[in-house]
Amino acid sequence: MLRAQCLRHPLEECGPVNRSAKQLSQTAVAHPNIALIKYWGKADAELNVPAVPSISITLDALATTTSVSFDARLETDSISLNGLELDADSKQAQRIRDCLDQLRVLAATTCCARVQSHNDFPTGAGLASSASGFAALVVAAAAALELELSAADASRLARAASASAARSLYGGFAELPAGQPGEDVAAKAIAGVEHWPLEVVIAICAEGPKTTGSTQGMLDSAATSPFYSAWIDTATADADAARAAIMGRDFPALAAVAESSCLKMHAVMHTTRPALIYWNAATVATLERIRSLQQAGMDVFFTMDAGPQVKAVCGPGHGAEVQAALATVPGVHRVLHSGLGGPARTCDPCS
Ligand code: DP6
Repeated sequence: MLRAQCLRHPLEECGPVNRSAKQLSQTAVAHPNIALIKYWGKADAELNVPAVPSISITLDALATTTSVSFDARLETDSISLNGLELDADSKQAQRIRDCLDQLRVLAATTCCARVQSHNDFPTGAGLASSASGFAALVVAAAAALELELSAADASRLARAASASAARSLYGGFAELPAGQPGEDVAAKAIAGVEHWPLEVVIAICAEGPKTTGSTQGMLDSAATSPFYSAWIDTATADADAARAAIMGRDFPALAAVAESSCLKMHAVMHTTRPALIYWNAATVATLERIRSLQQAGMDVFFTMDAGPQVKAVCGPGHGAEVQAALATVPGVHRVLHSGLGGPARTCDPCS
């Protein structure tokens, strides 16, 4: 991997580019995405290439806003998340520096950066904060460096940092294909928000951060779960079925394949050693409530990620009713309601 690690510049210029500090700052906003067909497993751990295709929807009600300023006077990158400075030795800070290094190589600069990122939703709790975080980081840093990246190029860079982030470059429905070792895959748009304005209700079943992160969890699954190979073998057929259901706006077909992909991923998690059990009692109670809604004829299905929160995907116009039903489930702290969101983008001012 190419590196352009940051340095303090005696002449206070950012490498070969000589622009004012003002021009080297940009802010971007990106939304988390929720996978309907799940990514769990890497074909290449070093380059972060997914072993399975995944399909997602981007949410408009949750957002990460990130400002990046490249500044020749800085001696190191300085990174704050939700107002708190990250420990420079933490894995999270290293991942962000690695991502900035990729952009510095493209811009032929070694300038250090100040990164300030804010999530308007719980961080690290299975709500895809790393997806929106890296999508916003890549878009803000590329714009600050005046790099003209295509969405696919930005998606590739975001994927290298966190594969689910590749999908947050796009609004509506997006797909990240599986890759081979060494392959530099990018996500692509499948359909825009207007194609099928699904709604999402998120039942917050615990507020704290998760115990095992996805990156380590999926490496452990590949090494120890006896179900891992079956998961890999069936993923392409699931993605094909989901893509066809989305294009045909076939809610029952999408519900069936999305719930199956989610439960297969959790079966792999549960059979990983040590076991990855992200559910709590409120998670299970919420699944039961969604089953009752389905039996009553409601267009709704569930999905869950590496955390206890349950995401209920609803047909257009059904979100408010599902929100009211999930708000009374014992153990559910609060319920969020979202439509589908747009792509990651620069913003000034950002509301
Ligand atoms: C369960 O994208 O966080 O949310 O590439 O290692 O950063 P890394 O993993 P990450 O994994 C997300 C896993 C998931 C399912 C999904 O979003 O597809």
